[in-house]
Order: sequence, then C-alpha cells, then structure tokens
Amino acid sequence: MNITQTPAWQALNTHRDSVAYCHLRDWFAADPDRFSHLSLEVEGLLADFSRQRLNQQTFDLLLKVAEVAEVTGWRDRLFAGEKINISEHRAVLHPALRHLEYEAYPSPEDNVQPDVLAVRDKMRLFTDSVRNGSWRGFSDEVILDVVNIGIGGSDLGPRLAVHALAAWRHPELKFHFVSNLDSADIAPLLDRLDPRTTLFVVVSKSFTTQETMINAMTARDWVEEGAGSPAQDVLARHFVAVTAEPGLAVEFGLPESNIFRIWDWVGGRYSLWSAAGLAIALAVGMDNFAALLSGAGAMDRHFREAPLAENLPVLMALVGIWNSNFLGAETSAVLPYNESLRYLPAFLQQLEMESNGKTVGRDGQPLACKANPVVWGAIGSNGQHAFFQLLHQGGWLVPCDFIATVESNFPLPGHQAPLLANCFAQAAALAFGKTEAEARSELEAAGLSDEQLTALLPHKVFTGNQPSTLLLLPKLDARYLGLLLALYEHKTFVQGVIWGVNSFDQWGVEIGKQLAGRLLPALRGEGDVAGLDESTAALIKWCRARKVL
Ligand code: F6P
Repeated sequence: MNITQTPAWQALNTHRDSVAYCHLRDWFAADPDRFSHLSLEVEGLLADFSRQRLNQQTFDLLLKVAEVAEVTGWRDRLFAGEKINISEHRAVLHPALRHLEYEAYPSPEDNVQPDVLAVRDKMRLFTDSVRNGSWRGFSDEVILDVVNIGIGGSDLGPRLAVHALAAWRHPELKFHFVSNLDSADIAPLLDRLDPRTTLFVVVSKSFTTQETMINAMTARDWVEEGAGSPAQDVLARHFVAVTAEPGLAVEFGLPESNIFRIWDWVGGRYSLWSAAGLAIALAVGMDNFAALLSGAGAMDRHFREAPLAENLPVLMALVGIWNSNFLGAETSAVLPYNESLRYLPAFLQQLEMESNGKTVGRDGQPLACKANPVVWGAIGSNGQHAFFQLLHQGGWLVPCDFIATVESNFPLPGHQAPLLANCFAQAAALAFGKTEAEARSELEAAGLSDEQLTALLPHKVFTGNQPSTLLLLPKLDARYLGLLLALYEHKTFVQGVIWGVNSFDQWGVEIGKQLAGRLLPALRGEGDVAGLDESTAALIKWCRARKVL
C-alpha cells in the first residue's frame, strides 16, 4: 500500500496547508486548556505535546492514518509472535523478555517463557555470586572490575542502563565498556585494570562481529598473560559470553556454564532486556534488573491495550510523522536534562535509525515518502551552551524531545530546580520565541540609543515555533527507565508500520562490513589494490608506505 495516496494521508496534506504557518503562540492563545488537551500521563510518565505544531484535529487525522496503516493489526501480530521480521523470517519477541507472568508467551504452542526464565535464573545465580564475592578470579580474589565488550545493541543498551542506574550500583564493582576497534579504547583501560580482579562480559548475538571478537581476543591474551597460563579454568573465571551462537563461544574457550543464551528472535537494539543486559544485572542486582523489565512490561501492556487515541507510543509516533512527513523536518533532537541519561541519544540513534532508516518497504517496493529523520542529541544543559543557538535562530525546523525528571539520582542542594527551570525555559523559548516588539521594549528599557537599538534589534528577535515534546518522570529508577525505553521502542515500531518498513532488519550495515573484509589483505600488504576504486587504492597505498599493525 502506498500510504501517501490514501485519503487519510491526503486529508493531512490539506490540513497541513491550512495550519502549517500557525504559530505556537496562536495555538496557545486559541485554546486556554491546550496543555490538558494535549498531554497524557501513563504509569507516572507525563508527556506534553502542547508545544507541537498541531491541534486535536491534527491528531484525529493522524489517527486515521494509523488506522489505514493497520497499526492495531501489526501490534497484535507483534505480540502474537508472528514472523513480522519478514526479510529474516523471524518473530520479534523482545516483549517476552519483560513478560514477568508465568504464562505462555507468545502462545502455548510457541512458548519461549521456559527458555527466558531459565536464562534469567542463571543470570541471578551468576550475578549474585559476583556481587557477593563468591565468584573468584584465578588468584582467588574477588572481582572488582567488569568490562562489557560488545558493539551496537550489544553495547549501547547496557552502557545506557548501567550509567543511568549508577545510584543503585554495587559499591565495590566498577563498570567499563569497550566497543571501538581502535585499540585506543581497550589499551588504556587494560593499563588501569588488574587481570586478577577483572571480569569480561563478551556480548555478541552473532559472536562473529569483528570489533567485538578482536577486542575479546585482546582481553583473552591479557588475562592469560596475567595468569601466566592459557588454561581453560583461567578463562572460565574471567570471561562470560552472551550469544545466540554458543558453539562459537565454546570455540573461543568458554565452558557451557559461562555462556548465556539469547535467541534469533531478539534484535541487537532490542536486547538489553535479555542476558545482553548482564552488565546491568551485575551492576544493580537482579531485583533492580527485574524492576527494569517490569517498567518495560508496563509500557508493553499500555501499548497493547490502550485505544490508539490514548496510546502514548502511538501518539509519539504520529507526532514524529507529522513533523517529518508533513512539516518537513529532516532531523529530530533528543535532549535529556538528566546526566543519568547521557547515553540515551546514542541509544535512540541506533534504535530509530537502524530500525527505520530505509527507503524500501516490506513489500520490496520503494517507499513513497521519507522514513526516519536523522536522530541526534546530547545532554540538554550542555547543549544550551553549544548547539542550541542553531535551534533558536538557525532557521532549521528541528523537533526536540526534552526529557527530564523531578528528582536527580544524585541530589545535591541547589541543583535540581535550576536544571528543571532551564529545561522548561528552553522548551518555552523555542516554542514562543521573542517578537520584534518584545525585543525592542527590552532594549529600550536597557537604555540603548536609537542607533544602538536599530543595530542590535534583528539579533535579538527569536522566531520561535520550534516544536517539542516534553517527557517528565518523577525520577529515573530502574522501573521508569524500562518504561521510557520501551516507549521509544514501540514508537519506533509504530512509525515503521506507518512508513511500511520492516523495523527489525538492518541490511544497510552489511555493505561496509563486506568491503572492509576485502580491503584488509590489501592494507596488510598481503593483497594488491587491483579492482579497487582509485580513491580507496590511493588511501591504501598511502598507509602501506607507513606501518599498519
Ligand atoms: O552491524 C550491525 C549490528 O548487527 C547491530 O544490529 C548489532 O546491534 C551489532 O551489529 C552487534 O551485533 P552482535 O551482537 O552480533 O555482535
């Protein structure tokens, strides 16, 4: 189906033409109850859409698009365990990982719950033993440092959650994340660590990802050298693996007992809820990990049961589609006003851009419209003093997600109220701007001469009308974190359904991997550059004239 040719989409085009030039000032003036009309609270998470450039009629028309795209049907297919990842012939069962009830999921015939629960039990035994000090390294010392080796979904989710939940972290354990193939990532870390007290968690669904395997082999050499022995027992005390390919982890040198299973039905960017989140469970304990799952499970229930018009992931998805496909925004910014969410922008970049960054639909046909915008962002209070200038006066349409919490995870007197004031102020300033008349009266009040005022005035005007959503949480404990991340997961899924893409494959990342494999021998001087494009051949020759390790 070409969604852009449907009457529902066309009606939105017409509606857009009539409202696109309305200013948020006018929207607010027209509806004194705009906030209560355009905000929603779900499980304690407040979402304020009132600063989006839309009204209830826009939402009604967007909901028609969701109906035409069969969002409800696709949602039911997801939860029923149908093989909706069609290009890989797989079901998409990550909600099973946060399904805490002891009932079959997705169905009694295809029940994955026994496997999920068995791995969760194994995670508890293992993480308890590391956390209580009964797990010992080769010299019988307790573990003090945990290093997660993985990349993409095998890194970003655990990295985000371990950082976000640092306030609940085991007091004696330190956590490190290695993802980059550049040895500048792992080398300085190993310099600081002691092999006797370091545990590596190698996370790779495929157990073939080049970056992860090279880093894991470097870590293995380092441990064996530290122990003075390559004995399997040494590895077994310092390495565990999380993978869907246990045979490859055994080849790496690990006993079965050190291997935690994941399955082909969980995609990397949806995997932090599985044993891929082992570092999270080691950091905050299995009870907090279960709270993370229960928060995500609560969002699953909401997404599954709430009518579309009151369904937060659906509304977030529709707002994004309105901004991108109707108002023409090409990027969207994630701006957490909470240091604990430092890694959220990177996590959402993978989640949204790897899921929906596509131009070909589920049916193999080119999409009729652009799918995902470019997602980027940073901690909001830092961004204010860096790139916000462009958001305020750069002339680009950049919809923003502001994310804030009432409490800090590390409270200190005098910090949180100014932080929240800045967050709310930025969202308001972006929305309402400052008119020429307002700027003029400010400059007059400051006593500027006519000449000074005329020169400065154009620089002091802010057009505003920059749309944003504000997500506000009471705090960021494990449950709220789960709720927030599952919200974005389902938003991404709904958008994929409407754009008509399969959100669960990522063929686009293959081309570079294949090419890198072909270039490697040439870079090492073991193959020639014949057949390579002129630029690549020249770069390789330039490097070969130097030394590449
Ligand atoms: O290159 C893309 C990708 O496959 C991601 O989708 C995935 O999260 C990452 O690589 C890591 O893959 P693996 O867990 O198999 O090492």
